[in-house]
Amino acid sequence: MATTVNSEQGSSVNRRGFLNFLLGITGLGWLASILYPVLKYLNPPELPEANISSLKVGKVDDIPYNSGQIIKFGRTPVLLIRDSEGTFKALHGVCTHLDCIVQYKPDKELVWCACHGGSYDTDGNNLSGPPPRPLEKFAVNIRDGELYVAKGEA
Ligand code: FES
Repeated sequence: MATTVNSEQGSSVNRRGFLNFLLGITGLGWLASILYPVLKYLNPPELPEANISSLKVGKVDDIPYNSGQIIKFGRTPVLLIRDSEGTFKALHGVCTHLDCIVQYKPDKELVWCACHGGSYDTDGNNLSGPPPRPLEKFAVNIRDGELYVAKGEA
């Protein structure tokens, strides 16, 4: 009789130990599933910058007058503007105040930052608002009816 009780107690202890082991593994898995994305968010992988010096944007005739669009020059946003006279200009698309993406306002023919109302002329010079510096210029070249944007001024 005593052997049966010990055997049941041993079985109970083994079962309890096994359940505690499963709970521990489950808890560790749950904790890892929470911590892994948080750590990955806090320490993102380094992405190499694409080292491009010139970007083919497209056909000149496809870009309307008095318009602006953000294009990606590698990972750098560039604001490509075609003014009302048809002249192309390309400016760094990030506001010099707090790094918001700027946009072209066709009704006023200027570059505007929606974050704090900063504005620039189409050459990137400051007009109003908090931005402390002008926007960097990019070169625009036309070859065989195709538009290219390059680093540096034209
Ligand atoms: S971020 Fe552009 S005006 Fe503040």
